[in-house]
Amino acid sequence: MSENASTSRDSFKTSIGFVLATAGSAVGLGNLWRFPYMTGTGGGGAFVLVYLVIMLVVGVSLLLVEFSVGRYGKANAVDSYKKIHPAMQCIGYLGFFSAFIFLSYFSVVGGWTIHYAVKSLTGLLSLGADQMGAAFGGFIGNPVLPLIYHLLFMGATVFIIANGISGGIEKYTKILMPALFVMILILLVRSVTLPGAMEGVVWYLKPDFSKINGGTWVAALGQVFFSLSVGMSGMVTYASYLKKKENLIKTAIQVSLTDTLVAILAGFMIFPAVFAFGMEPSQGVGLLFISLPAVFAQMPLGPVFSFIFYVLVFVAALTSAISILEMPVAYIIEKKKVARPKAALIVGGISFVLGIAVSFSFGIWGSFQIFGMNIFGIFDYFGSNISLPLGTLGASIAVGWLWKKQGAVAEISNNGELSLGVANAWFFLVKWIIPVFIFIIFLKSVGLF
Ligand code: PFF
Repeated sequence: MSENASTSRDSFKTSIGFVLATAGSAVGLGNLWRFPYMTGTGGGGAFVLVYLVIMLVVGVSLLLVEFSVGRYGKANAVDSYKKIHPAMQCIGYLGFFSAFIFLSYFSVVGGWTIHYAVKSLTGLLSLGADQMGAAFGGFIGNPVLPLIYHLLFMGATVFIIANGISGGIEKYTKILMPALFVMILILLVRSVTLPGAMEGVVWYLKPDFSKINGGTWVAALGQVFFSLSVGMSGMVTYASYLKKKENLIKTAIQVSLTDTLVAILAGFMIFPAVFAFGMEPSQGVGLLFISLPAVFAQMPLGPVFSFIFYVLVFVAALTSAISILEMPVAYIIEKKKVARPKAALIVGGISFVLGIAVSFSFGIWGSFQIFGMNIFGIFDYFGSNISLPLGTLGASIAVGWLWKKQGAVAEISNNGELSLGVANAWFFLVKWIIPVFIFIIFLKSVGLF
């Protein structure tokens, strides 16, 4: 993609470029930070099982829904949905506003990864496992330091989007994503071989069915959408830069598989260590930052490994953050005829300010709560449990009910050239199963039954 999307719409130059960009969007803090903490608070194996069911039944198909709308629309998400049905523009607008919310707290947590990379080399690992929690709490509660990292993270995101995402990022993700994968494997081996780790493995893998309730489904649904980047039209936007010949079905399957694998492995690297060190699996947002330094401290060259790991998590977060930012930026460029760098700066600036409130909610504004949630909790709840389910519900209604079947099926099968049977089965799911499934869980999430 080049800078000049305002005058002529560019496209991904290569298939691998698109696969990397979408996998880069999907794999991020959602897998490495949010999935383990949701699993921890959601009861371990039971949550993982529900997560996998939702991923299979609705996740992959919804990714394909967003791909099809974007490639067909060849425009920002608002106009792409409008092309399907004028009323469906609202899904694009919902994504537009949600992007600010997501970007704000994503950048705050992305900033934490930079701090942890720096701290890895400056004494973090000399703390005992029992001191890691207090160190984390002290850092995120500080009114100034996290904001500096938040600014750095947001600055990097804005910089990349201002310059267009072709070239550099493709080249780097090709190396850094596999590097992250290798690092996760190394950590996983260290984690499961710690004394006492098996208890964590069992807790993670063995579903305790009594733990599954309505809340588990709500949380897992939001987590699947968050992790796959669907429901906010980020994938509609990326697919709008895609050429007609690409195989959408194959890409959707590849990206969902990669995304799920990374999340599952992330749990494997974290929970055995959590149990080995006698930590609490349900401790929440700090899990990634509290349990892993204790593992690194037990490894030869621990500080170096720790530094590399947090840098890689930072990169994974960055490739997701740029996909969040690209969504509203594409809209502003095309509708308001604003230059790309200025659009990136406006959205990044507003999200940065919102992020200040999020960061303060872990410290000086911690006592400000609504329905028992602090500002971070409200943003996360609105984003993952309200906005993403509404966005995916609308997307499946748009494609299943308002777009003619031949149009949608032709789009994902490249006019019948690829897997027509799969395309027909997909359409059936999107029309009849997915909206009902999401609707029922959504009602639960807003407390209606
Ligand atoms: N999928 C990203 C992750 O797992 O970190 C987060 C994300 C990106 C959510 C893009 C929504 C989005 F549109």
